[in-house]
Amino acid sequence: MVKFLRLNNISVMYQPGQYVLEKFNLCVEKGKFLSLLGPSGCGKTTTLRTIAGFIALQEGTIVVNNKIYNNVPINKRNIGLVFQNYALFPHLNVFDNVAFGLKMRKIPKDLIKEKVLKVIESVGLNGYEKRLPAQLSGGQQQRIGIARAVVVEPDLLLMDEPLSNLDAKLRIEMRAEIRRLQKKLKITTIYVTHDQLEAIALSDEIAVLNQGKIEQTGTPEEIFYSPKTLYVAKFIGFQEIVSGIVVNELNDFVEVSAEYGIFKAKKTGKVSLNSKVSIVARKKDFTLDKKENTNSMRGKIIAKIFQGDVVLYMVKTGSNLVQNVEIPLKLASWEENEKLNINVNPEACIAFSEGGK
Ligand SMILES: Nc1ncnc2c1ncn2[C@@H]1O[C@H](COP(=O)(O)OP(=O)(O)OP(=O)(O)O)[C@@H](O)[C@H]1O
Ligand SMILES: [Mg+2]
Repeated sequence: MVKFLRLNNISVMYQPGQYVLEKFNLCVEKGKFLSLLGPSGCGKTTTLRTIAGFIALQEGTIVVNNKIYNNVPINKRNIGLVFQNYALFPHLNVFDNVAFGLKMRKIPKDLIKEKVLKVIESVGLNGYEKRLPAQLSGGQQQRIGIARAVVVEPDLLLMDEPLSNLDAKLRIEMRAEIRRLQKKLKITTIYVTHDQLEAIALSDEIAVLNQGKIEQTGTPEEIFYSPKTLYVAKFIGFQEIVSGIVVNELNDFVEVSAEYGIFKAKKTGKVSLNSKVSIVARKKDFTLDKKENTNSMRGKIIAKIFQGDVVLYMVKTGSNLVQNVEIPLKLASWEENEKLNINVNPEACIAFSEGGK
């Protein structure tokens, strides 16, 4: 497949000597949807602003559709931008907000009208053309933000946390709508979020960023089920359970001598005999039992928190770590202060070498 967007070895700094993005590479195929996922301050917005041309590169190249973009002025880059805070023109009505980019491009009036009405319809807001942004809900304003970005048929659509100002229900509805529209229009898209579920629901590919560097790129399934580093694992919902030394290797698994005895876990890249590893698992993969099983930790329940169809137990273990354990409501008969075992199936555990990747 043709790589439509390529970031080759790009570095950016705002202040001398302090890299905000450090020598990273990223490719997106034409028509695909890639999410940049990472915590606050890791460089997501900076990456988008660099692609759009607001920030100069220290080194590296940006290539879009085989054209080097480094010195292309902002207004010559055919890029659509959608921001968290909508950034609509408050004094222009819906029609004129959407038409703005087309007017700048000096497109004939009739054609502008046709394109604008079509895109307003595709975001479900026909009939709202004469309203001002202040007369729209947050979700409607963001739909107009998206319509305004796509109406110019950009080569690239860059979206910076576009749903984070919306309530939970609307966010899920809008996710589906963004995906439907992106697939229909086949626009190559980079979507920034710190919400792992949003990235998983929307993307063809996810790139996880850690302090200005890409830690892992993969499909949502790869990122969710096969994180390659401890950082990625923790970011997508695994928690550390024990650390120890690898004492045996068995095909895809390792046996680890840890505080509670031998733990078995799936191995990743650099894990080998005698190496020090951390084992992680997801809270939904734990069970609670009076009996000891494989991969078992003794603990005491310090909190029981009702969460709808599941109960979250906080269990303090021997090493004074607190493990979060999620149990379906029907099975959640345990009470605070009870002493029991946290058990976890080795299939649900992954071992990462400590300190390395
Ligand atoms: N104009 C600027 N001048 C100096 N430093 C900046 C500037 N803009 C951002 N930074 C710094 O660069 C780093 C990356 O910022 P960026 O806005 O790209 O993060 P982000 O991943 O988008 O975070 P968030 O999820 O909070 O939006 C941060 O440490 C930030 O403080
Ligand atoms: Mg940001």
